[in-house]
Amino acid sequence: KKKIAVMTSGGDAPGMNPAVRAVVRAGIYAGFDVFAIYEGYEGLVGGGAQIKQMAWADVRGWLSLGGTLIGTARCAAFRERAGRLQACYNLIVQGIDALVVCGGDGSLTGADTFRSDWPSLTAELVSLGRLTPEQIAPYPELTVVGLVGSIDNDMATTDTTIGAYSSLERICEMVDYIDATANSHSRAFVVEVMGRHCGWLALMAGLATGADYIFIPERPPKKDEWAAELRAVAHRHREKGKRRTTVIVAEGAIDDELNPITSDDVQAVLSGMGLDSRITTLGHVQRGGSAVAYDRALATLQGCEAVYAIAEMEPGTPSPMIGVQGNKIVRTPLVEAVRVTQSVAKAIEARDFDAAMALRDAEFSD
Ligand code: F6P
Repeated sequence: KKKIAVMTSGGDAPGMNPAVRAVVRAGIYAGFDVFAIYEGYEGLVGGGAQIKQMAWADVRGWLSLGGTLIGTARCAAFRERAGRLQACYNLIVQGIDALVVCGGDGSLTGADTFRSDWPSLTAELVSLGRLTPEQIAPYPELTVVGLVGSIDNDMATTDTTIGAYSSLERICEMVDYIDATANSHSRAFVVEVMGRHCGWLALMAGLATGADYIFIPERPPKKDEWAAELRAVAHRHREKGKRRTTVIVAEGAIDDELNPITSDDVQAVLSGMGLDSRITTLGHVQRGGSAVAYDRALATLQGCEAVYAIAEMEPGTPSPMIGVQGNKIVRTPLVEAVRVTQSVAKAIEARDFDAAMALRDAEFSD
């Protein structure tokens, strides 16, 4: 009987529990033994009791639960070859040769490295005398399937990541609350939102709440001009009778010379124009709580698709990442998704914003 495992990795995201539930149940339905690896890559490296077989009823009620019930971690050991060697050993002794990883771009990059290292890892385990050639023979390759779970929505080749819309919903709810008090006192608020180097949450929250100004890393304003422009916009809106000023700042916001634009910088500009201003850093409430219906459905469809991919995959097929494009669940090569995501990040780091945008546009026009 084929044995598959599912794990969550990196920052938790609403929808991870529905994703695990779907993999467990679709896997059992397909006739597999399904294991959950607890605590992300730490559990994969640690092995033992952290790799547990799951029964149908073990995931009952998980659709509505926030966070990830099988735990997650940002694991340093797995980034080293020694950690991956131990992880390879743990999977082979359990007889597992297919792994579904639900995580963000860092976690999926790690999964892809593990997959490409696999033949050399198994060979090393034999040369170290930890496993025999007979023991590794049934496991010539590791099947990895990526599910993108992250609130940041920062992965290429998928329109949205599991958790992004839940986080967006939470942010909008919080900004609505803030707007009410801002309106009462005629105040200005700087709201800092998560997203790492991606501005999707900030941009969408700004659109959905009617913010006065939004700072995102993908459209860095000119270092010496943004403060004056912000002042002008805030002033214009006040002149029109608006009693509040709301500025959304992505945590990764930068200017065109790559200097971070912080909430403090923005507040200083607003206070400087005489507005009574406050900063609200939303923090981890953005990741908590149960998933919105869209993320529950997306996670369920994608979790099932991950199992179908494992069931159908011919030896030698590149590992897929399950995405959604134009409302269709799709498989894209994991290596390609990781490569495009990293190229966009590198182009932004190199301040080549045109190249970064061209890469994204190419991705969306495919
Ligand atoms: O990747 C998800 C995320 O929430 C980012 O938006 C944020 O930068 C980071 O994780 C926070 O990480 P931590 O929970 O480790 O503080």
